[in-house]
Amino acid sequence: MKPYLKEHPWSIIEEGFDQTKHEISESIFSIGNGHMGQRANFEETYTGASLQGSYMAGVYYPDKTRVGWWKNGYPEYFAKVLNATNWIGLKLVINGIILNLNTAKVSEFKRELNMKEGFLYRAFTATLENGDIVTVEATRFVSITMKEIGAIEYKVTPVNFDGEIEITSFLDGDIINSDANYDEKFWAEVNQTATDNKALVTVKTKKLDFYYTSKMQTFVDTDGVNIEPTTASTREKYADVVFHAPLKQGKTTAIYKYAANVTNRDHAHDVLEAVATAKLTDAVSIGFGALKSAQKDAWDKKWQDSDIVIEGDVSAQQGIRFNIFHMNQTYTGEDARLNIGPKGFTGEKYGGSTYWDTEAYCLPFYLATADQNISRNLLVYRHNHLEKAKENAQKLGFTKGALYPMVTMNGEESHNEWEITFEEIHRNGAIAYAIYDYVNYTGDKDYIGELGIEVLVEISRFWEERVHYVPRKDVYMMHGVTGPNEYDNNVNNNWYTNRIASWTLDYTLQSLRDLKETDPSLYQQWVEKLHLQPEETTKWEDIIDKMYYPVDENLGVFLQADNFLDKEIMKVEDLDSKHLPLNQNWSWDRILRSCFIKQADVLQGMHFLNHEYDLDTIKRNFDFYEPMTVHESSLSPCVHSILACQLGYQDKAYDMYLRTARLDLDNYNNDTEDGCHITSMAGTWMSVVQGFGGMKVIDHDLHLRPFIPGKWDSFSFKIVFRGARLNIHVTQQHIEVTNETAVDTAVKIFDETVHVGGNETVSVKTK
Ligand code: BGC
Repeated sequence: MKPYLKEHPWSIIEEGFDQTKHEISESIFSIGNGHMGQRANFEETYTGASLQGSYMAGVYYPDKTRVGWWKNGYPEYFAKVLNATNWIGLKLVINGIILNLNTAKVSEFKRELNMKEGFLYRAFTATLENGDIVTVEATRFVSITMKEIGAIEYKVTPVNFDGEIEITSFLDGDIINSDANYDEKFWAEVNQTATDNKALVTVKTKKLDFYYTSKMQTFVDTDGVNIEPTTASTREKYADVVFHAPLKQGKTTAIYKYAANVTNRDHAHDVLEAVATAKLTDAVSIGFGALKSAQKDAWDKKWQDSDIVIEGDVSAQQGIRFNIFHMNQTYTGEDARLNIGPKGFTGEKYGGSTYWDTEAYCLPFYLATADQNISRNLLVYRHNHLEKAKENAQKLGFTKGALYPMVTMNGEESHNEWEITFEEIHRNGAIAYAIYDYVNYTGDKDYIGELGIEVLVEISRFWEERVHYVPRKDVYMMHGVTGPNEYDNNVNNNWYTNRIASWTLDYTLQSLRDLKETDPSLYQQWVEKLHLQPEETTKWEDIIDKMYYPVDENLGVFLQADNFLDKEIMKVEDLDSKHLPLNQNWSWDRILRSCFIKQADVLQGMHFLNHEYDLDTIKRNFDFYEPMTVHESSLSPCVHSILACQLGYQDKAYDMYLRTARLDLDNYNNDTEDGCHITSMAGTWMSVVQGFGGMKVIDHDLHLRPFIPGKWDSFSFKIVFRGARLNIHVTQQHIEVTNETAVDTAVKIFDETVHVGGNETVSVKTK
């Protein structure tokens, strides 16, 4: 698709209204605050194609599973993030005509996502069917400082006429999910009221009893004169208040709508309506202007910790800030019950549930840009689901251990494609790896003794039972698995899965040893609580020693799986481009038989366990696998970009970075209308910080090995590391590290230790 958004360092700007792009923009311009989110739907009536979407984190529905052929072990349902009460709605009737951008003539249209201050702005001029012309300016945000509050300022000015406007400000809880399996409505009526300028709708999910109350208050004034509402009405799951205001040519009618959206996830259900009233009263007394400036201050703080500045390339600057903005909108880490859905609050696809994407791709972003507790909460989330993961393993016939689900909302498996649900078990390794990553980055070893060890032991027990011993070869193998490359499934001995399994066993044993040494009594408590037997740890050692890894000595590469080399080996560049993307042009059968790779697989291992492999090994594997990789998962390019940086393949690194840097802004995969690729946005951040910045933590030392893409004048990124906040500025000549805190710190730049005292800047030459 031809890019249609204007380049700007801090804003996403759409000028001119193209209805065919509206649903894409609805995703891109979404707003969220970690607690709830809203697609960039119009407040006023719009009868063109649109996905009305308002989502509340953690409120989901168990939609009955739909599969062609049932397999034992499939989950009964797929947990879906729920599209909830539309709180933004305003119906405007101007001199008898409904304002509707699908029927009016639209000019001067501008939509802007202001990422610096965290709000959505829209302006347009509409010529109605009778020739009346109005201009509209609308601003809205969901508040970061008051998580349950959304606020709208909507201004209408008649250009060429006097007349009357009827304004219906409403709450509509009769909402359906666009992806419901059986077109079922998930919400049931509870209560609706409307009096004066206030209205309330409480609905509840038909299953699981999530109660959801929205309460709104609306104010209207024309040219500064307050207008009283004329009527208020309700019907099932709906409530509104209606105003009639005079319109005078050139004089503005301003509407202020505040909404509190509260659920029984956070408050007892019998006090929900009272809570909504109290929150709404607070928000109204603060007022739109003050709420908006608090929003700006809150975003200032977020940018202070997580901004990346790219000089000399506005398009790249806009792309990376867009990604950081959405990451910060999606997960704020205060609530350990929440996680990061691949589409965040921007759409319904993927059910809004948790995937291994969180541990493998998102965690590094939060580790380096936010308070330690925020990433810790991502680990606690999995700890809270441990019992469910144990049940999941039992359901599949294991006698012990934990298998975390491929997709989940509440710890139970939601996924239902056997070759993924039952076989893509490498996800368990990513969850163990995340504990390592967290401890390695933060130095918070206590986490292992507090919660981490329990997760590690149960995952290790799963691996112990999932491998099988092959006596004639004296090795352990793992058959019937799917690696990260879903274009080759149900394979034997996927190198990455075998490797991450064995690595987990090793890390678990090492963590147990460390705990025994540092806190013997805590160690003993865990041994008892987990009924850990010496035979188990002995078996784990044996598996580590005798794990089978497919390799090809001639090529010097690890094999993605047994018999990988028996496939017809070819490069993507040798394919006619008409075949790409394969997933849209080839049958599934043809994809599976081919050598083509969806996303990093062996190379995912080289990325995670980078410290275990020398450069030559990484290079041989990269040179072998990357040319066969089609990167048809948006999670793929970042891993390749980071490894390419390490190998000095600067053009390749930049090329890979570009593939996701503006994935949604340029609708690269032609699917942004479904929602933005939130988890791959974290990958783009990794490409810049871990790739171009070369940031790594090895043995408690922060390492940097930056290089700067030729197109850029400079780039800088912020990271928080062990109490210090550093701003790393890389130009073609220098690397400057500014310590923005008083905490003395040291950084290894190209392996040389550089001390950066509190509030100091140190500069070294770029290599
Ligand atoms: C990828 C998975 C990923 C999922 C959700 C799939 O296309 O292959 O690795 O977990 O998307 O992002």
